[in-house]
Amino acid sequence: MRMEGPAGDEHAEPLDTIDLYDPTRYATGAQHRAWHRLRREAPIWPHRTGEGIPFWSVTRYREVAAVLMDDKSFSSAYGTILAVAAGDSAGGRTINLMDQPRHADVRLPTMRLMSTHTSRQRGPQVREHVRRLVAESFDAGGVVDVASLMLHLPMAAVGETIGLPVEYWAELPRWAMAGVAPEDPHYADGTPTATLTKAHHRLIAVFSELIRQRRAQPGDDVISVLLGLDYGGRPMDEREVLLNCYSFAMGAVTTTAQVASHLLLALAERPEIWRTLRAEPDLVPSVVEESLRWASPTNHLLRRTVKPVEIAGTRLEPGELVAAWVASANRDESVFPRPYEFDPRRSPNPHLAFGVGAHRCIGAPPAQVVIGLLLEEMLARLDSFEVAGPVTHLRSNFINGITSLPMDFQPVTARRAAVIA
Ligand code: HEM
Repeated sequence: MRMEGPAGDEHAEPLDTIDLYDPTRYATGAQHRAWHRLRREAPIWPHRTGEGIPFWSVTRYREVAAVLMDDKSFSSAYGTILAVAAGDSAGGRTINLMDQPRHADVRLPTMRLMSTHTSRQRGPQVREHVRRLVAESFDAGGVVDVASLMLHLPMAAVGETIGLPVEYWAELPRWAMAGVAPEDPHYADGTPTATLTKAHHRLIAVFSELIRQRRAQPGDDVISVLLGLDYGGRPMDEREVLLNCYSFAMGAVTTTAQVASHLLLALAERPEIWRTLRAEPDLVPSVVEESLRWASPTNHLLRRTVKPVEIAGTRLEPGELVAAWVASANRDESVFPRPYEFDPRRSPNPHLAFGVGAHRCIGAPPAQVVIGLLLEEMLARLDSFEVAGPVTHLRSNFINGITSLPMDFQPVTARRAAVIA
C-alpha cells in the first residue's frame, strides 16, 4: 500500500459506499483517504465482507486500542482476520485465536523465548545471519529486488527460536506469504484455493517432521516448548502443536519482512533522512519505531463481541464482528502530529503496529532487534540507494505488503569502508 496522506477528494466517495474489505483498495493507497474520512466523521461504521457478512469498523486510535485492550468483551477465538469472517477453523486452538485462560497456558511459556533480554543476547548471532543475507547485494551494488531479499529477514530473527533448521529458511517465507495472500498474482500457484492448499500442505509437512524430531530430542525452541506445556491440565495434541507452529511462522514472516521493505522504500524516497541517519546513527532505535508505525504491516485485527458493549456511542450486541484498523490508528492525527510524515525523531511514538493488550505481539523484541541490525548493516555498507523500477503492492486487506521493489544499491566507497573496518 502507498503510504502518502489522504490525497485527492476524499468526499468523492460517499461514506456509505466505502468498502474497506475490497483487497484492490490496498494496492493503490486509496484506503488512507477512506480511513481519514472515517476517523473524522464515522469512528464506528458498518460494512460487509465480499460474502455479505456484516462487520463494524473502528478507525480512530482511541477505539482501536479500547477494542484490543478489552479481551473480556472482544474475543479472539472466532477469528482475527476479515478473510475468515465466517469463522476460523483454527479458532480456539492457536495462541492468537484463544481467550483466557487457555491463552495464558500457551503465551507465558513461549514468551520467554522471545523476551527483550533473550533477543538482545541473541544479537551477535542474528547479526551474522543478517550479514549473510545482505552482504552480497549491498557490497556488489546494482539492482536487487528488495521485497524478495527481505522475505528472508524474519528467519534471521527467529528461525532458530521457532526451531526451524536453516535448510527451510529459503522456501518457507514464500509459502507463508502464499498462505496469507493466495489471491495475489505474485504468490499465486494456480487458483487462490489451490495456492492456499499447497502452501498449507507444505508448511504442515515441514512442521510435522520437525515435531517428530523434537519429540525424540527436545531443544530450547518454540516447537519443543509447545510439546511440553501444560494445556489446561493435559499436553497439547499433535494437531494443536502443529497449528500453533503455523501461527508462529506466519506471525513472523508476514510482518517483519514488510516493515523492512517499507523502511527501505521510505528512506530511498527521502534521501535527506538517510543522510541524517548516517550523521546520527544513534537515531536507529527511533527510526525502527517509526518504520513500524509507518509500515503497520497488519492493517486490521478482527474481534467478536461476547457481551453487550458500547463503543463510540454505538451499542453492540454479543456476536457482532469488529475490525480494529490498526494501520488507521497509526495515522490518527490526534495522537501523531503530521502522521503522513516519516519522522526519524518521532517521540513519543505509541504506535499500535504490534497490537496492544493480551495478544500484543510476542515477537516484538526479536523483530525490533533484526530491523535495527538491518539498519546498522545498511549504514556500514551503503552510500545510497534508489528505487530502480515499478513498486508493486500486495492485494490484501490484512497485510500491508510490497511484492516487488527493485532498488539500485551504491556501496560505500573503498576509503570509507576501510575506516569502518
Ligand atoms: C514487525 C514485525 C511484527 C509485527 C508488526 C507483528 C504484529 C503483530 C500483531 C499486530 C499481533 C497482535 C494480534 C492480535 O492482537 O490479534 C501479533 C501477535 C503475534 N505475533 Fe507478531 N508481529 C511481528 C513479528 C512477529 C515475530 C518475529 C513473531 C515470531 C514468532 C511473531 C509472532 C506473533 C505471535 C505468536 C502472535 C500472537 C500472540 C498472542 O496472541 O498472544 N510476530 N503480531
